[in-house]
Amino acid sequence: MDIAQHVTELIYSHTLRSHILKMPLLNTRFLESHRELRLAHLALSVMTMGYVWQEGENDTVKILPRNLAVPYWKVSQRLGLPPILTHADAVLANWKKRDPHGNLELLVTLPGGDSVRGFFMVTLLVELAAVPAIKSIPLVINGVQCGDAETVTRALEEISQAMEGMTDALKLMHAYVKPDVFYGIIRIYLSGWKDNSSMPAGLVYEGIQAEPMEYSGGSAAQSSLLHCFDELLGVKHEENCAFLTRMRNYMPSSHKHLIQDISLQPSLRGFVQQEASELLTAAFQLCVTKLMALRSYHINVVSCFITIPAARARQLRRQGNSSQEETVSRAPTALEETGTGGSGIMSFLKTVRDRTRDVSLPGV
Ligand code: ALA
Repeated sequence: MDIAQHVTELIYSHTLRSHILKMPLLNTRFLESHRELRLAHLALSVMTMGYVWQEGENDTVKILPRNLAVPYWKVSQRLGLPPILTHADAVLANWKKRDPHGNLELLVTLPGGDSVRGFFMVTLLVELAAVPAIKSIPLVINGVQCGDAETVTRALEEISQAMEGMTDALKLMHAYVKPDVFYGIIRIYLSGWKDNSSMPAGLVYEGIQAEPMEYSGGSAAQSSLLHCFDELLGVKHEENCAFLTRMRNYMPSSHKHLIQDISLQPSLRGFVQQEASELLTAAFQLCVTKLMALRSYHINVVSCFITIPAARARQLRRQGNSSQEETVSRAPTALEETGTGGSGIMSFLKTVRDRTRDVSLPGV
């Protein structure tokens, strides 16, 4: 924890790698509760991201040393999470209450100062806004099973309202995160060693296996929320199915199981069509509309925080301005059009939004 809580300073002083190399090999069997394991995974994750990316994209490492790799692997196995920083670490498990009023602060952080804090916290607020929607999903499912159109309508109304709350929370990104800092400083620490040209060979987890392994970096697709909504509404992501399905292995296993459970239920959309109730149909359609609005807003955020700074970085390069004076110039070129999770970010998000539109009900 001493190292994990000082990762940022140790990266800035270029000494994180040497501190980690001197670390003792700790035994993980003393970790007992789920909370202890999640904290350990979070701590080992920020240390790993810092270790790999300490010197930027051009001086990466091939081997994660045993002192870090062995406990990381063991904790990951017990949690069913991959040995890399995930949304479940940086966002879901990375907060505590600073005071009794519930003001939150991060447990560990990465380079990027207030902007990285803003990025993790705003993403957490999006999750928080979704809570009433997640709680309403069982009501929808039970309602469909009992043929209770009124309950389903009310629960769907609750879900669409929560989706709007998620979009409102996402809007805070502009207030708390500076695009240049996000693009030029933060993103590399969220990126992984799969589908990343800076780490084409993957990473050897020393003491685990001799061959390198590949793991994707952080992605909003690792949040279970949109997977739950898609399964509930019947959204099918044909083109991006492989990526989205793989991202379910980057979630806590209980989240993955919840998504699977929702996917196995009888079709909600079919029920809505069969009932032909005006209120129910409108409530279903409102969910589709609000989910599309959330996804459109996400595209807008990506264009502000990635596409525009990337264009600026390209322009600076064309002008032969190779100095690192402008923050955007410090960004890895490998992540110009690729998300930290490895997707072709814009086309991915647009296709996912379009597939959401496909479940709209005719004539509404
Ligand atoms: N997936 C986000 C990005 O690509 C964090 O920057």
